[in-house]
Amino acid sequence: MLARSKSRQFALALALLPALAIASEPAESVADISAHDAAGLEFFRGPLDFLKARQLFERETFGGNGRTCLTCHSRETGTVSPADARKRYGRNRKDPLFLADGSDDGAGHGTERMLADATFLVRIPLPDNVRLANDPEARSVVVRRGAPSTLNTPALDPVLMHDGRQPDLIAQARGAIFDHAQVRREPKQRDLELIAAYQHTPQFFSSLTTFKYAYFGIKPKLPTPRTAAEIRGRRFFLDVPLEGDFKSGLCANCHSGPMLNETNEFGPFPPFARGGRFQSVGVSEVNIAGNPVYDFVFTNPDGTTTTVSSPDPGRALITGSTDFESLNAFKIPSLWGVTRTAPYFHDNSAKTLEEVMQQYARFFSVLGLTLTEQDQKDMIAYMKLMQ
Ligand code: HEC
Ligand code: HEC
Repeated sequence: MLARSKSRQFALALALLPALAIASEPAESVADISAHDAAGLEFFRGPLDFLKARQLFERETFGGNGRTCLTCHSRETGTVSPADARKRYGRNRKDPLFLADGSDDGAGHGTERMLADATFLVRIPLPDNVRLANDPEARSVVVRRGAPSTLNTPALDPVLMHDGRQPDLIAQARGAIFDHAQVRREPKQRDLELIAAYQHTPQFFSSLTTFKYAYFGIKPKLPTPRTAAEIRGRRFFLDVPLEGDFKSGLCANCHSGPMLNETNEFGPFPPFARGGRFQSVGVSEVNIAGNPVYDFVFTNPDGTTTTVSSPDPGRALITGSTDFESLNAFKIPSLWGVTRTAPYFHDNSAKTLEEVMQQYARFFSVLGLTLTEQDQKDMIAYMKLMQ
């Protein structure tokens, strides 16, 4: 017991040290960090705040259905996988994970989807110019999405949610409390600020690499490859123009920048500008997850309409547009820590990195590019270095 509480204290001290140090640093010394990140730390002033913040993230239910942030964003992975769900179901069939948007019918009945895919029913309001073909009165639609990891993203990514719809961590936390936890009590602004601040503490980073970026502005570099497979895998992630066999720099078209989650300017498709955050890699289009498909009718600015069939058109439901960076487009996720954050893609349709690679092989074959078995293994070998 003693050893355990000692090690806990030690962990807490470790957790707090850098946070306290940074709180007293002038903002200029972390120039590389977004304003979003600085805002997260501003609310976090000392040990009592830390304890309160942890309590709010891990234990506070706000008088709702018993869920906390930790219900869906674990300490180890920042998300919840089908394997986690099955383990929890074995231990306690009444685990709040399986309530409401975690159940098959959205009203608490059925666990099939959660145990197989660990997705949630997410209700998205339809933009004014979008209707459902077979339910013209509907003003919202329910899509099935996985929980993105809370490793790295809250502190290091100003774009939140698979479709980028939340402007900041405070609005995001408020939304999560009402949407998932079915609360009746309004959370205080201070509570929301502390939840946001808590997600900037050291345990929310996948490694020292991303921690150093958040706290000291030291930009992560591509890891050094050692084995032959890693050396071959690395070239796909180099920030270089596509030439020759189109493989060097292929993944970096979208997984570029310090967090490997931005487009670069070398993509072969229509307008790729550096820093873009939303793209499609064909996940909604192929719908391996087998999610229900809707017909969306978009009224374009010139009065014409475009009908689109999709299980989840992603960003298009935020912009109301069917352009290249909206339709079936989702936020490009960071690849740092990716070995820990399975399952993958917005619909959790890839359960492993091997399945991610199969999707890319399909996607790029449509564009006339073959990713061999060896290429796929090499990329996985290299992504395993991205801690
Ligand atoms: C019932 C499960 C569930 C609970 C509880 C939950 N979340 Fe989430 N969280 C999700 C899902 C699902 C998404 C993605 C939804 C989407 O993109 O439409 C998400 C997205 C996020 C994101 C955005 C991550 C990114 O990559 O953009 C953050 C940050 C986050 N949640 C934090 C929280 C916090 C803080 C709480 C507690 C106040 C919380 N979540 C409670 C399931 C949950
Ligand atoms: C055209 C832009 C684009 C290119 C090129 C691209 N990706 Fe992605 N990547 C994305 C987007 C967008 C997603 C999320 C898609 C979704 O959820 O529907 C994603 C998701 C992923 C994921 C899952 C991460 C997670 O947390 O869910 C991995 C792993 C990944 N990409 C690796 C690669 C590799 C390896 C390559 C090169 C073969 C590559 N990507 C090329 C845009 C791209």
